[in-house]
Amino acid sequence: MASPLDIFRGDLLAGHVALVTGGGTGICRGIAEAYARLGADVCITSRKQEVLDKTAAELRAATGRAVIGIAADVRKPDDIASAIKQTVDKFGKLDTIVNGAAGNFLSPAAALSPNGFKTVIDIDLNGSFNTARAAFEYLQKAGDGLVLNISATLHYHGTPLQIHASAAKAGVDAMTRNLAVEWGRFGIRCVGIAPGPIDDTEGMKRLAPGDVGDKARAAIPAGRFGAIDEIAAAAVFLRSHAAAYITGHVLVVDGGHCVATPPLGVSF
Ligand code: COA
Repeated sequence: MASPLDIFRGDLLAGHVALVTGGGTGICRGIAEAYARLGADVCITSRKQEVLDKTAAELRAATGRAVIGIAADVRKPDDIASAIKQTVDKFGKLDTIVNGAAGNFLSPAAALSPNGFKTVIDIDLNGSFNTARAAFEYLQKAGDGLVLNISATLHYHGTPLQIHASAAKAGVDAMTRNLAVEWGRFGIRCVGIAPGPIDDTEGMKRLAPGDVGDKARAAIPAGRFGAIDEIAAAAVFLRSHAAAYITGHVLVVDGGHCVATPPLGVSF
């Protein structure tokens, strides 16, 4: 089957350097692979070095590019600053960061501990700030820097069992707009992608197992979950010069999920 990435020129990102947090697995692994396939050198980060080593080796083999993995917890500003510095030391510069590191689980608000709420805010929201803040000086030097924040559509509605992730992702989307405004003058764009339900991700395994997933598919206008490559294609477009005048925007890639009104039992 054709990949949505086939549309892009093979050397589109030649000479680019990107750092992708949460790049060991799932959607962000897909973004890292797409960037490398199109010519970028890439550093992936997450908490587990063994996961990164395996993924980095697989991506090097699949793309022929330099892909490195550096363990860093985005909740620890020194960790992520060190990973960014090591990336610049290795590749000479940094053009793009993708803030993809996230944690989530289902929990009723009334049963969620303050530390459970804080943990997800720390990873998703504070982690994205820590990474962008540490990357700023390098993105500014790049002259065409990009911050790409991966959020969600949870906070567009009062999604049950997701108060922690909804609050975190709402903050991430707010930050996308703030950074676009403050950093535009430094040649840095800041954009977001809000993925809907995507197949083959830890998130959907955890959040929509079994027949919950089947019901969710039926509620999506596209009639299916998305593919990781469909998010990666959006990430390539937003990184490319085709998106040079796009900043402060969050692109929803969800098959129409978030605009579909629940059918209230009416068939159509
Ligand atoms: N339901 C309710 N609370 C939960 C929870 C769950 N399923 N999982 C974690 N928590 C709470 C813990 O109880 C703890 O709070 P407490 O100290 O009051 O008990 C707090 O969150 C921190 O949990 P801990 O396991 O110590 O944190 P961690 O930093 O090791 O991992 C996550 C936290 C959220 C990242 C963890 O769920 C995880 O590792 N997930 C796998 C990766 C993932 O979520 N990927 C993204 C999918 S979209």
